[in-house]
Amino acid sequence: MPHNIVFSPIAEELAAIAREIADKHVRPAAAKYDKAQEYNYEAAKAVAQAGLFKTFIPKEYGGHGAGILALARVTEELAKADSGFGVAFAVNALGSFPILVGGTEAQKQHWLPQIARGEKFVAFCLSEKYAGSDASGLAVTAVEDGDDYIISGEKKWTTNGGVADIYSVFCVTDPTSKSRRISAIVVEKGTPGFTVKKVENKMGIRCVPVVETHFDKVRVPKKNLIGEKPGMGFKHAMMTLDLARPGVAAQAVGAAQGALDLANVYSNRRVQFGAPISSHQMVQKMMADMGMKTEAARWLVYAAAAAADAQAGNVSKMAAMAKCFATDVAMEVATDAVQVFGGYGFMEDYPIAKYFRDAKILQIYEGTNQIQRMVIARSLIKDCAELDHLKPFIPTEVQQTYRADLAPIGKS
Ligand code: CAA
Repeated sequence: MPHNIVFSPIAEELAAIAREIADKHVRPAAAKYDKAQEYNYEAAKAVAQAGLFKTFIPKEYGGHGAGILALARVTEELAKADSGFGVAFAVNALGSFPILVGGTEAQKQHWLPQIARGEKFVAFCLSEKYAGSDASGLAVTAVEDGDDYIISGEKKWTTNGGVADIYSVFCVTDPTSKSRRISAIVVEKGTPGFTVKKVENKMGIRCVPVVETHFDKVRVPKKNLIGEKPGMGFKHAMMTLDLARPGVAAQAVGAAQGALDLANVYSNRRVQFGAPISSHQMVQKMMADMGMKTEAARWLVYAAAAAADAQAGNVSKMAAMAKCFATDVAMEVATDAVQVFGGYGFMEDYPIAKYFRDAKILQIYEGTNQIQRMVIARSLIKDCAELDHLKPFIPTEVQQTYRADLAPIGKS
């Protein structure tokens, strides 16, 4: 069932602030940080000072308690100016959600207020070299030792790694268990044995670091085990992704809108054959499709975010649909925007090429779009249980075998 999409006044207020910060601190510096592959601390500071990290943190832990829809609105505004900065912001929510969905009251009281104030940045360590889509196949171990866990192994694709102060690290705590194999443990920057090794050289989103995080017998107190009950890690990871995927999808909507806006301005200024190219029907077709797809993606994302806020039963499916659809749209729109710009679109002199480079990762991270389609298809199969009333309309023909030893085919 669709959920009411209600924009709270605080969501709109935060989105407006995000738009201002994006115009002042993000867009003007986007090319510089992209080229240097450096983090935009100045913009992150402005985001912290404006209280935008409070968006997704409940009020009782020092946040605005504005929810996932507000988070989507803020992310969209930041990503419109620079998709990389959009994820630099949203990844803090991804890294915080395991604490939010699974943490004890004491853990929430300890970490969430610092995150809300923007004093501590967060990262999410799930993926490994040999555990990407198959997230439950991870190999980093956490072994009990008195009051501590000893974490050993390495993680791959840690977005925000190095910048972040708090890491939600998914580890094997019970190798013998199938369903309770994994636990999430918080590791703080500076813990002995915890290091950032390879810093990836990326095609896009270059203003946010993506790194390998290494754990060489890292000792952390048991009180850092999220929920203080081992074996809940995979569930917490999946619940986290249900909440975070609307954020990636919002990043995609922002990226698509940003590319569309640039193509719109260019196509109205670029004169060929004596008229702006926006008056040429083939360009109009592209622009119309780009606008239509971006708008459709936007409302699917808002619907998924509203479902997450309503803690609806179909949140996994909605989040996967929004992530998959919006990120495919972002790639299509960015590709067509480059096409509208022609030769200029192919040059790094102008930001439109960066929109194209930034868009690709959206279809890959936080679950590839193939995994999203799998989640959606599995969910549709479950929905089938509610559709018994349609059975009379389904073919039920029986095929005779004309053999005494075999029942007719299709007879139940
Ligand atoms: N909420 C709660 N529990 C869930 C759940 C959900 N949405 N989905 C699954 N579970 C539970 C199941 O109920 C099941 O529990 P029991 O064992 O108690 O029965 C358990 O989890 C296992 O479920 P599945 O059998 O469905 O698991 P699976 O191994 O088939 O995997 C998957 C499911 C959807 C493929 C999952 O592995 C997945 O999402 N993979 C993609 C991983 C991913 O998105 N990685 C992105 C990393 S983050 C990143 O990219 C961030 C960044 O850099 C910015």
